[in-house]
Amino acid sequence: MRILITAGPTREFLDPVRFLSNRSTGRMGYALSEVAAQRGHDVTLVSGPVAIPAPEHVTLVNVISARDMLAAVLAHLAHADVLIMSAAVADWRPKIRSLTKLKKRDMNPIIELEPNPDILASVKALKGDKIIIGFAAETHDVDEEARAKLERKGLDMIVANDVTQPGAGFEVDTNIVTLIPRTGDVVKLPLQSKTEVAEKIIAWTEAYTA
Ligand code: PMT
Repeated sequence: MRILITAGPTREFLDPVRFLSNRSTGRMGYALSEVAAQRGHDVTLVSGPVAIPAPEHVTLVNVISARDMLAAVLAHLAHADVLIMSAAVADWRPKIRSLTKLKKRDMNPIIELEPNPDILASVKALKGDKIIIGFAAETHDVDEEARAKLERKGLDMIVANDVTQPGAGFEVDTNIVTLIPRTGDVVKLPLQSKTEVAEKIIAWTEAYTA
């Protein structure tokens, strides 16, 4: 299969030196890419700025902002059978991006934001028979919030991620997730490495298309 995977955070710049972002390290998306490539799939990894090396045998596309990531996903989606959005995309960006460094003396401490495009919602109309998998990073009502995203974004499966649990979510090598498919059984996975979680997600994808 040709699998398009997104990973890492996006950065939304206020000026040439400051940005809004989040805690994603890219480890979950890089683990998915590595496992998928090892299992013989053709993998394109669209990655926000991270500090880990690209897995072998993966086509890496580096992006910075949510709008860059949307453009890269749109550029590669036509050639993909599967899209897995594990990236933590910033929902908002500063309304004004200064071309010069904002000075403390001039700076208005109130930052006005405007919404970024929702990448999954933007590709919904292009889904056809592609498999689209999203993640849901939640802090409360995890399964309910994840199911609402599964419906709203028209996904085949959502990976519900309670990011408040020790050993889960951002900046760790492990994760605790629940795989919630549109049809079929819900699978609650206990604490395990991101590589093991990635193996379960890629195996689910293979079984879904078999
Ligand atoms: O990178 P790590 O440090 O390993 O951490 C892993 C992780 C916590 C980032 C990962 O496991 C995870 O949960 N990724 C999803 C993070 C997220 O942004 O979730 P969300 O609930 O805000 O978004 C829901 C889905 O919509 C996600 O698939 C997201 O990629 C997508 N999205 C979000 C915003 C947006 N503007 N466009 C999108 O397509």
